Amino acid sequence: MKALVLAGGKGTRLRPLTFTLAKQLIPVVNKPIIHYVMDQLKEVGIEEVGVIISPETGKLIREALEAENKWGFSFEFILQEEPKGLAHAVKTAQGFLGDDDFLMYLGDNLIGESIVPFVDRFKSGEGESLILLKEVEDPRMFGVAVIDDKGRIKRLIEKPKDPPSNLAIVGIYLFSPEIHDAISKIKPSWRGELEITDAIQKLLEDGKRVNSHILNGWWLDTGKKDDLLEANRVVLDEWVKRRISGEIDSNSKVVGRVVLEQNSVIENSTVRGPVTIGEGTVVKNSFIGPYTSIGNNCTIENASIEHAVLLDGSRVLGVQRLEDSVLGRKTLVQQNPQNHSPLQLMLGDNSEVLL
Ligand code: TTP
Repeated sequence: MKALVLAGGKGTRLRPLTFTLAKQLIPVVNKPIIHYVMDQLKEVGIEEVGVIISPETGKLIREALEAENKWGFSFEFILQEEPKGLAHAVKTAQGFLGDDDFLMYLGDNLIGESIVPFVDRFKSGEGESLILLKEVEDPRMFGVAVIDDKGRIKRLIEKPKDPPSNLAIVGIYLFSPEIHDAISKIKPSWRGELEITDAIQKLLEDGKRVNSHILNGWWLDTGKKDDLLEANRVVLDEWVKRRISGEIDSNSKVVGRVVLEQNSVIENSTVRGPVTIGEGTVVKNSFIGPYTSIGNNCTIENASIEHAVLLDGSRVLGVQRLEDSVLGRKTLVQQNPQNHSPLQLMLGDNSEVLL
C-alpha cells in the first residue's frame, strides 16, 4: 500500500501566515502539522509516500520532509499546478499510484488516534474504499455521509444545509485503484473542483462497496486561526509531558507540564503549563499561561500571554493579556511606552488586529 499526502492548496483562510509558509508546515506544539501525518503513516508500515505540492509552497514542503526524513520514507513529490480539488490531486498522482491500493491523507488534518485499525480493516478486504467518519455537532460545513446499519456508505453530501446525519468525512481515506476510473467519470463541481465525494458517489453508483470506519478520538482540521489554536490546545493537553532542558532562574515559577528546550531562559517569570517553549527563547518579567506554544528564538519581556501560538523569532514586549492569538515568524508586538500615543501598525496583507 502507498500513501498520498495532500500538501498543495492555497490555504487562503490562514493568510497572512500562508503567504510565506505552507499551511501544512505551520507548527502545532512546535512541530509542523505534516510531521504528525508522517508519524501516522510510519505506524502503519507504509514506505512509499507521494506528496502533492503546489508551485507556491512545494519547495518548502520538500525541504521540510527531505531534510529530516526520520521516517525513512521513499518520497515522491508530485506537482499539482493548480488546486483543482482532491480528486484532481489523485488524478495528478496516477503515475505514482499505479495499480496499488492507497491511503489518502489531507496534510492539514490531525487526529488523536492511531489509523492502524482503520488500515487493517481495509486490508482484510472490506470493499473498494473505506472512509473515516467522525460524529460532529454541526455537520453543515463538512462532507457528510449517510450509512446503513452495517456501516456501508449509502450516499455522501457536501456541506448540506439540512444534514441527514451527523457523520462528517474526515480527510483520511483508503482506496483501491477503482477510484481512478470513478474520477475519470466525474465533472468539476459548481466551485470548479473535482470533488473526491463525487468520485466516491460514482463508486457507489457503479455498485462498488464503500464502507465506513468511525473515529472515536478527536479530529482537527487546521484550516483557520481558531482551528489552529484549538489543535494546539488539544495536543498540549493530551501529549505534552514536562521536560526542562533550558534554564530557569530562582525568581521564576514553572508549574505543570512545560517543555523548555535548550538554550532558552526563564527569568523572573511564571510559566503555567501546558506550555511548550522552543530553543533560544528568552522569557523575562512575564507570565506565560496555559495552552501556549512559543517557537525558537523568541523574546517575551514584561508581557502576559495565554492560549496563543508564536512562531519562530517573534517578540512580545510590554504587552499585557495577549490571548487567543497567532503570531507569524519574526513578528513584533510592542506596547508603546508613552501613554495615549497613537497606534502604530505595520501589518502584512490579510492581517487581523482586534483592539
Ligand atoms: P482545503 O483546506 O480544502 O483547501 P486549501 O488548503 O486550499 O485552503 P483554503 O480553503 O483556506 O484556501 O484543502 C485540504 C487539504 O488538501 C490541504 O492540505 C490542501 C490540500 N489540497 C491539495 O493538495 N490540492 C487541492 O486541489 C486542494 C483543494 C487541497
